[in-house]
Amino acid sequence: MTSIAPDSGNVAIAIDGPAASGKSTLARILADQLGLVMVNSGAMYRAVTWKVLREGVDSHDAGAVIRVLRETILECGDDGRYSTIKVDGIDPGDELRSEAVNANVSAVSAVPEVREALVALQRDYLKRASVVMEGRDIGSVVFPDTPYKIYVDADEEVRAARRRDAGELDAVSKRDAADSRRATAPLMVADGATVLDTSDHTIESGVAAAIEILKAQGLHL
Ligand code: DC
Repeated sequence: MTSIAPDSGNVAIAIDGPAASGKSTLARILADQLGLVMVNSGAMYRAVTWKVLREGVDSHDAGAVIRVLRETILECGDDGRYSTIKVDGIDPGDELRSEAVNANVSAVSAVPEVREALVALQRDYLKRASVVMEGRDIGSVVFPDTPYKIYVDADEEVRAARRRDAGELDAVSKRDAADSRRATAPLMVADGATVLDTSDHTIESGVAAAIEILKAQGLHL
């Protein structure tokens, strides 16, 4: 398994952490500042979940979820800055962040066949560009060999407040518990990752701290 495409010389920065830890904001700003493509791997799990719900399939029925996956065309690309996704030619847009998707995405993402398919699509990005990829298993499974890994965390109350401020009613602690307990690729601090707790950080100071971590991990900026 290779995680840094040897021919292209592309690099992967892995940003993992629980929901509402601040990892998406951090990944986006880092990608902008470093001129890399930001890839939101959670959107891929949300896209499969969106299709599962549209088909009226029970997200806990792994066999049915796998059937939906096999019948679905996922187009994962980027607009030069951020990852984009189409499901059977359709961009689901904000529907990826609906309450229904929030409530079912942990079940869908626990299915090993779903993970296998999406991890392959995630690794494809690195063949095309250097990336900042955010998710739950980027440093542990998708790009285990990359030296650049940050695990972003924040207190549960801080995370719940951030979700409320964003107008979302997501049951983050329930989702995190499911994502951490699943058998395949659970949320964890990957080998070699540095933990960045953003509870007491502003966005600016969090980004500065992340840059220091990446420099200490050997990234030349
Ligand atoms: O990052 P997010 O909250 O949009 O992710 C939605 C869900 O997708 C999350 O609850 C678990 C799953 N996920 C995953 O299992 N592995 C990833 N690398 C990214 C997301």
